[in-house]
Amino acid sequence: MNLIFLGAPGAGKGTLATLLSKDYGIPQISTGDLFRAAVKDGSELGRKVKGIMEKGELVPDSLTVELVRERLAKPDAQQGYILDGFPRTVAQADALAESQKIDAAINFRISDELVIRRLSGRRVCRSCGAIYHIDNMPPKVEGTCDRCGGELYIRDDDKIESIKNRLRVYKEQTEPLIAYYREEGLLQEIDSSKSPQDSLGQIKSLLE
Ligand code: AP5
Ligand code: MG
Repeated sequence: MNLIFLGAPGAGKGTLATLLSKDYGIPQISTGDLFRAAVKDGSELGRKVKGIMEKGELVPDSLTVELVRERLAKPDAQQGYILDGFPRTVAQADALAESQKIDAAINFRISDELVIRRLSGRRVCRSCGAIYHIDNMPPKVEGTCDRCGGELYIRDDDKIESIKNRLRVYKEQTEPLIAYYREEGLLQEIDSSKSPQDSLGQIKSLLE
């Protein structure tokens, strides 16, 4: 099953991709996570994208498409995958369509108010990338990852100015993909304002 998770920043794509990836045994491929790993490593790619990400702008299509092309060529992606946060522009969607057959693009519907609440309380594990929320999904011990004991941190782009810019960029450049995949007959939608378990149930019933 080759899936795309579409939706605003903070809609819950990463949280649900982790849950579904475990259930279906297919990898979660998050371009945001891949870029953050490059920044952490201090690689050439990381140096190029650091400032762009902090401001909440999009990384150029050429860099993003190449990164995903390499990732999709790995053995674990041959039996299916969940693309979390890619494509984000029509040019990226066109590039993907050249080499991949997509089964469904799932749009996570959510209000801007809820996005801001979710992103301002998000904490992420520095070691394993697990996602928490200080009110909705708190870790057992404050500041510490339940899964691996790693340190939880606030993403550089989860400051209010950056969140607002990401929402603006999403509306201008990514929202048109909803119509794009509707025209392709691939669009499915969920109400992402409920609990993660509720979203997981909605996605599974759409796919079955
Ligand atoms: P990326 O990492 O993809 O960020 P994003 O799209 O802004 O999305 P988020 O990761 O912020 O949100 P999410 O939907 O995954 O929500 P989450 O599950 O964490 O991209 C970062 C940057 O990288 C971009 O700005 C850009 O610069 C660059 N980039 C990445 N891909 C690119 C591309 N294709 N092209 C160009 N540039 C690219 O949940 C959010 C919070 O809510 C968490 O605290 C979570 O615990 C909580 N939560 C989740 N679900 C629920 C729920 N159901 N109920 C209650 N709380 C919930
Ligand atoms: Mg994410």
